[in-house]
Amino acid sequence: MTQARKLAAGNWKMNGTRAALAELEALARAHPNPSVGILICPPATLIQTASAAMADTPVEIGGQDCHAEPSGTHTGDISAEMLVDAGATSVILGHSERREDHEESSEDVRAKAKAAQAVGLVTIICLGESLAQREANNTLDIIGGQLAASLPDSCCATNTVVAYEPIWAIGTGKVPTTAQIDEVHDFIRTRLIQRFGEAEGGGIPLLYGGSVKPGNAAEIFATDNVDGALVGGASLKAEDFSPIITALE
Ligand code: G3P
Repeated sequence: MTQARKLAAGNWKMNGTRAALAELEALARAHPNPSVGILICPPATLIQTASAAMADTPVEIGGQDCHAEPSGTHTGDISAEMLVDAGATSVILGHSERREDHEESSEDVRAKAKAAQAVGLVTIICLGESLAQREANNTLDIIGGQLAASLPDSCCATNTVVAYEPIWAIGTGKVPTTAQIDEVHDFIRTRLIQRFGEAEGGGIPLLYGGSVKPGNAAEIFATDNVDGALVGGASLKAEDFSPIITALE
């Protein structure tokens, strides 16, 4: 993926069959010449068809996970190289649903990110605290720990995007205040600069994710250190995702 500093990314999660490709076509028609990056991460079954359908458009296609090994006896898993072969340019890693449903640790995420970056994928690495962790005032500790352990040393401004997704905001309609988003993004930015230096750490795009909708996107995008969004439910329909892209432009 040509790394764009501003990125509108859609995570379709376990939604969509071939009929949903019509939504991609509509999205591409609505944004023939966008000034921001547009990425859709459909289910693995659609990656190849979607990337072929979007080949001459600005809409890029990504995966939602990959295995840390290049091949082997891992039934049901997909390697980073397979994603590239299918036409993906990036991959979401460490989403809280993977961390919870598949007990993925930050160390697992780091190994996957290393493998994905080695074959040229941009890695979108997700971090987020639970409601209990926020209420216990542990948000920055949790985010700092996940950040340190999930990002391999190979991260740089052109191969990494960090997505802050508070678990309690995902699919709930609850959105942090812009002050809360600002606090966490500022913290992530500071840590990235400390670890990777001003040019690389300062250049890694930071996305917010969790109940982003057409009605709240502009306010979220006006927040410091927010370079875009990782959108779930509102990325499934072009009519919902399109105004979010426009708000970012
Ligand atoms: O990865 C995106 C996501 O977890 C946010 O989902 O449906 O709240 O936009 P949603």
